[in-house]
Amino acid sequence: MGGNIRCDQVFGLRIYAQTADKLKRAIKSRGKIYGTTGNIGEKAIKVAVICVRGRPDEVYLMKTGIHGILIKAEHLGFEYEKGIKVLEDISFTAKEGESIGIIGANGIGKSTLMKLMVGLYTDYQGVLEIAGHRVEKKNLNHIREHIGYVFQDSDSQLFMSTVEDDVAFGPRNYGLSDDEVEQRVVKALQAVHITELRKKKTYQLSGGEKKLASIATILAMNPDIIIMDEPSVALDPRNRKNLIKILKEIKALKLITSHDLDFIRDTCVRTILIDDGRIIADGDTDTILRDRELLESHGM
Ligand SMILES: Nc1ncnc2c1ncn2[C@@H]1O[C@H](COP(=O)(O)OP(=O)(O)OP(=O)(O)O)[C@@H](O)[C@H]1O
Ligand SMILES: [Mg+2]
Repeated sequence: MGGNIRCDQVFGLRIYAQTADKLKRAIKSRGKIYGTTGNIGEKAIKVAVICVRGRPDEVYLMKTGIHGILIKAEHLGFEYEKGIKVLEDISFTAKEGESIGIIGANGIGKSTLMKLMVGLYTDYQGVLEIAGHRVEKKNLNHIREHIGYVFQDSDSQLFMSTVEDDVAFGPRNYGLSDDEVEQRVVKALQAVHITELRKKKTYQLSGGEKKLASIATILAMNPDIIIMDEPSVALDPRNRKNLIKILKEIKALKLITSHDLDFIRDTCVRTILIDDGRIIADGDTDTILRDRELLESHGM
């Protein structure tokens, strides 16, 4: 009892605590919780704790991470307008650390599938679970805590007036300290090479700069699941290459849609081909992308 708990002890605690409630009690019984980030959910799949290691003025952020199947879709169907099915019967699971390309012709529902995963529409048919949470209105806070989503259209992504405010928005909202927010912003802007655009008004950015700023907003959140809808569109060859490098280094589960099949080949180990609202092929990226006949017969 008493004293400040160390970050490495929190790891130990997570192993033994079956539920978030028990974890919270366990930490409290040993010392002070300096602040928790996000919600501590029922299942303690992911708990982020700001705690003190050694000196009381040294504050660290610690994330325990989530494991196993992070996305589960079973017979997922969706229609924007009654009777016009966009997605008919989509079933797949995705595990931590996987990199999955989602490909298919224009208008077959790739963006729709991604929007469903972040809960932009919840009136779907079938099962859709993210990090163990069913995608429904009451779970959206938990779900969005885990997912970073880069929209196909950057204008839907950027909503603050300057680049730095946009990149800082997520971490700030997550309850991080000013110092931590600043570190996240600096690192994310550096990663996509747009440090010099930090003070720039988002509406003044070029198309490619908007895309890079959107990607920075996601990197700053350090999410467990990254969903990117056409991330390479509008990027010049140098920025495209840099993005490939960044994505290869990120350990999160990644789902990437792109018509840039070389980009998919460079960033995704697994590929899912969609047509007619269904999964046509799901497997090794090289095998699927080498099958010209398969791709051509599905509008690729
Ligand atoms: N808000 C909406 N209301 C009605 N229909 C929509 C809406 N958004 C998309 N659709 C329709 O749903 C279908 C799937 O669109 P979606 O944007 O998911 O396709 P996509 O596979 O991402 O295409 P692209 O490769 O062009 O990005 C299209 O026929 C589109 O017209
Ligand atoms: Mg799309």
